Amino acid sequence: MKAASPAPVPALETLPSGLVNLADHEALARTRLDDGAWAYFSGGAGDEITMRANRDAWDTLQLLPRVLQPLAGGHTRIELLGRTLHHPLLVAPMAHQRMAHPDGEVATAHAAASQGAGLVLSTQASVPIETVAQAFGAYAERGPLWLQLYLQHDRGFTRELVGRAEQAGYEALVLTVDAPVNGVRDRERRAGFKLPPGVSAVNLSGLAPRATSPDAHFFERLSAHSATWDDVQWLQSITRLPVILKGVMHPQDARQAAALQLAALIVSNHGGRTLDTTPATAAVLPRMAQAVAGDLPLLVDGGIRRGTDVLKAVALGASAVLIGRPCLYGLANAGALGVAHVLRLLRDELEIAMALTGCATLDQARPDLLFS
Ligand code: FNR
Ligand code: LAC
Repeated sequence: MKAASPAPVPALETLPSGLVNLADHEALARTRLDDGAWAYFSGGAGDEITMRANRDAWDTLQLLPRVLQPLAGGHTRIELLGRTLHHPLLVAPMAHQRMAHPDGEVATAHAAASQGAGLVLSTQASVPIETVAQAFGAYAERGPLWLQLYLQHDRGFTRELVGRAEQAGYEALVLTVDAPVNGVRDRERRAGFKLPPGVSAVNLSGLAPRATSPDAHFFERLSAHSATWDDVQWLQSITRLPVILKGVMHPQDARQAAALQLAALIVSNHGGRTLDTTPATAAVLPRMAQAVAGDLPLLVDGGIRRGTDVLKAVALGASAVLIGRPCLYGLANAGALGVAHVLRLLRDELEIAMALTGCATLDQARPDLLFS
C-alpha cells in the first residue's frame, strides 16, 4: 500500500528489565492492567478448560531431534497465499487494543511490520482500519495485512467495510466463524468488566442496532442473523480478496471449506474464549491436516508461547501460526516496543529450536519430528 503521509510512529518506550520470555511479559502485564482489562484480555470461557488445554497440548508434545544435519543457509521463510514471508508468525486479531495502551492497534501494526510478522486486524479494533493499514504499509519488509470480520446482520454495512478494507490495502479477509455469540465469560462478569470511556469498536460505529427486544433469548436474537455457509459464499462473491475462515476445528468443516475454495483455514478455538471443553488446537491439527490433504493452507493459534510450540505446529501441518494474548501483554508493558519484543523473542526461539532439531528450513519439520 502506498501511504502519502505515514501514520506517526508511536514513541519508543523503554523495555522494562527482566523480560526474557513471553511468560515474563504476561507476569508484568498483570501488574500494569486493571482487574477488568486483565479479565478481558487474559480470560477464557467457562471453566477455562480449553484455554488451559491449548497450552498443555503444546507442552506435552515432545521434539525428537536429528543431529549432524547440514544447517548452513538455513532460514525461517515460508510461502503463504502467493507471498514469501520471513517467518510464520502473525499477530492474531484481538479487539479493543487501546485498552492495553493508548496507541492500541497502531503500535501493534508498527511492531508487527517492523518484525516482518503478519497482522490480522480485528473488526472490533479501537482504531480505524485505514490508520492501521497506513502504519503497517510504511515498512518494506512487512508481512501480510489481513482484516478479520464477523458477518454483521446488516449486509450493506459488511459490504461497505469490505470495500474500505480493499481500498486501504488489506490483502485477505478472515471470517471468524466460531463466535456467533460470546462465550460464557465468568471472569469478566466477576470483575464487572466494561469498556473504558474512549475505547470502542470504531469501525462498526455506523452499524444499525439489531431489531430485537433486549430480553429475547439467545436463539431468538440469533436465528435471523447467524452466518451459514451461504453467507461465506456471499462474502466471496462481493470481494476480490481471498477469504480465510478462522475458528474451524472439525475435519468435515475443513473439507467443506476446501470445496468452497476458501484461501486458508485457521484452526482455532478462539484461545478458549468461546466454547469451553473443546479440544486443544494442537490436538486437532493433525486430523485437520489429513482432512485438507494440502488443498489449502492451515494456520493455527491458541496457547503458542515458545519457539518450540511454533516448530511443533509446523511439524503437525500448519503453514503459519497466530499469536494472541502475548502481543497484548507486550503492548501493555511497552507499547510498540513491547509487541516487537514478544515477536522477536519467538522468532529467535524458533530459529534455535530449528537448529537444535536439525531443521535448516521449515519444510523439514514433519510429523516425525515429534516423539510418539
Ligand atoms: C481475541 N480473539 C479474537 N478473535 C477474532 O477473530 N476476533 C476478535 O475480535 C478477537 N478478539 C480477541 C480479544 C482478546 C482479548 C483475545 C485474547 C482474543 C481470539 C484471537 O484471535 C486468537 O484466536 C486467540 O487469542 C489465540 O489464542 P492465544 O494465543 O491468545 O492463546
Ligand atoms: C473476544 C471477541 C471480541 O474474544 O472475539 O473478546
